[in-house]
Parts: sequence; structure tokens; C-alpha cells
Amino acid sequence: MKERGSLFVLDELERLQNEIAVSISQAATEKELSEIRVKVLGKKGTLTQLLKRLGTLPEKDRKEIGKKANQVKESTEARIEEALFLLSERERKEALEREKIDVTLPGRRIPVGKRHPLTQTLDQIIDIFSRLGFEVVEGPEVELDYYNFEALNIPKGHPAREMQATFFISEDVVLRTHTSPVQVRTMEKKQPPVRVICPGAVYRCDSDPTHSPMFHQVEGLLVDKGITFADLKGVLTVFVHQMFGKETKLRFRPSFFPFTEPSAEIDIECFICNGKGCGVCSQTGWLEILGSGMVDPAVYKFVNYDPEEVTGFAFGMGIERIAMLKYGIHDIRLFFTNDLRFLKQF
Ligand code: FA5
Ligand code: MG
Repeated sequence: MKERGSLFVLDELERLQNEIAVSISQAATEKELSEIRVKVLGKKGTLTQLLKRLGTLPEKDRKEIGKKANQVKESTEARIEEALFLLSERERKEALEREKIDVTLPGRRIPVGKRHPLTQTLDQIIDIFSRLGFEVVEGPEVELDYYNFEALNIPKGHPAREMQATFFISEDVVLRTHTSPVQVRTMEKKQPPVRVICPGAVYRCDSDPTHSPMFHQVEGLLVDKGITFADLKGVLTVFVHQMFGKETKLRFRPSFFPFTEPSAEIDIECFICNGKGCGVCSQTGWLEILGSGMVDPAVYKFVNYDPEEVTGFAFGMGIERIAMLKYGIHDIRLFFTNDLRFLKQF
């Protein structure tokens, strides 16, 4: 027969075991489980307290009660472990559910940009002249008056300066009005043969549907022994045919530039009226695309070339003009307003 005290402790242990099982099964979080662990197994935990009473019980019952108490302890620990495991499993499943990725969904489209029509036109110009053996060189947009005018045979006070309305930075510094100064800079650095094109931005105090205050030109320069006007005609005819098509009619019209002699401007047949005369070509049937000529010996003087030894030709074209003619654009300002409806067409 056990003593009353022993019977009470055994009862308590049994009751505790059931109580723990219920509260563990109801715990919904890791925190609640660790609270249960403290409440039962901690220093002041219910099971710990109960075990303290072991010493007060009769010797003969202790073994059995001790065994039972251990069982309660072990089952509590096992239940908590199991509950923790189930909890983390559930959380993992929920996270997977929440962060589900549908790999069959189509990807987000990245809008594809296009090269600006002026860049496309310039690339084409460069491509044509590269195949003719011309090399690309560049020069500064803020330029000395010396290179923009003087060394091109346009001294200070000369009426030819009025041909290009100039933005002055100071008396000796300008925003270049054309790419021709790069000719001079190139010849200063290199002895003939020279065969270069010089693309870049230029500036003039000019603004209407066909003139922009900032626009782009491509300069060309070829100097060598025995170069004649026939070479100029040949190279520029090839250029026009490659740029606008083999059937394109062109003409060389006498003109004047202070740095070339003789000089010619090239016109192509108006693409709107096919030469009959219309508003776009001012009833002439022709559209100007570039200026050109044989380099004036006066220019060679500035770069120490001997005009008895070498001759050459130069030309300069407006990239916007070429693009307008190629694509049938009537207003130069469209190139600079960045309207996507316009730009998407190229
Ligand atoms: C010149 O600028 C000369 N440097 C060209 C040259 C070079 C002649 C080498 C001989 C030898 P011009 O001012 O005509 O020339 O300009 C050349 C081209 O630039 C014109 O045919 C035109 O296509 C373009 N252009 C001129 N002004 C403007 C402007 N405000 N807006 C857009 N294009 C322009
Ligand atoms: Mg002109």
C-alpha cells in the first residue's frame, strides 16, 4: 500500500502529463511552446516543484514516482520538439505558398530603343566614306577664331564672315560655325596624303523650319599629289548615289567659299516633285546638299603645305539636311524635340 502523499504525487504527475499534452497541442507559435517548456521544466516549473517533494516521500515509493516523473519530463520534451517541427513545417509551406513564382508567366518586356535618325544618317555617311578610304577625325566645338575663320582665308573684317551668323564667346573664341576648322587642325598635324572626314555639331544664329541654331556637319578633306576637280566629282557622285540611290540625279553648281577655288555646291533632284518644281525646292526642281571645292592655295600657306606639290578638295554637308531629304522630313526642329511618335518611325 502506498502512502497518501505518494498517491497524491502520482495523481498530480498523471494530471500534469495530460494538461501538458493539451496545452502543447494548442500552442500556435514557437514562443508559446518555449513558455510551456519554462512553465513545466524551468526552475520554478510545475514538474520541478513536484520533484522537490520526492525527498519527503517514503523510500519504497520513490523509485516508481521518480520513474513516472522522468517519463513526464521526457514526453514533455518530445512533444515540444515534435510541435516545433510541425510548426516550422507549416511555416515553410505557407512561405512557399506565399512566395509562389509562376515560371510560365511571360517576362516583362524591355522597351527597345532605336538610334536617332541623325545618328543613323551619320553612321551611313561614315560608312560610305570609310569604304572610300577616309578616316574619321574630330575637333573642338568651342573654337579659336583663327581656325574657324582666319586660317580658312577669312580675315577679320572680311565680308565673307557675314555668310555665317556667328556666336562669339570672346573676340578670339567662337562656337564653330562649320566643321571646316578641323581641316586646318588636321593639316597642321599631318603631311599629305590626307584623307579625312570630320563629323560634329556646329552653331549659327539661325532658326526656321530648315535652319537650326545647333546642327551637324560632316567635313571632308582629301589632299595628295595630282588631285583634280575630277576626283572631287567622282568621290561626291559615288557618295550621292550610295546615299540616295543610283538613280538620283545631281548637279554641280558653281559657288563661292573663301577657302576653296573653284567651288561648287551639289544639288540633288527634288524628291517631292521629281524636278518639276514645287514649294519644297522653291520651284527650282533642285535641293542643295553640300558645299565643296578645290582647297584654296591660300589655306595651304597657313599649314605649310606646298601648293606646287599637292592639291586637294574639301566638302561640307549638313547631316540634318541629308536626313530631311532621305526621309522626306519638312521641319528640322523635329530632330531635336524628342517626340517618340516621330522617333519611332525610323
Ligand atoms: C559651309 O559651312 C562650308 N564650310 C562647307 C564647305 C566645306 C564648303 C568645305 C567647301 C569646302 P554652308 O554654310 O553652305 O557651307 O553649310 C553647309 C551645309 O550645312 C549646307 O549645305 C546645309 O546643308 C547645312 N546648313 C547650313 N546652315 C544650316 C542650319 N542653320 N541648319 C541646318 N543645316 C544648315
Ligand atoms: Mg550653302
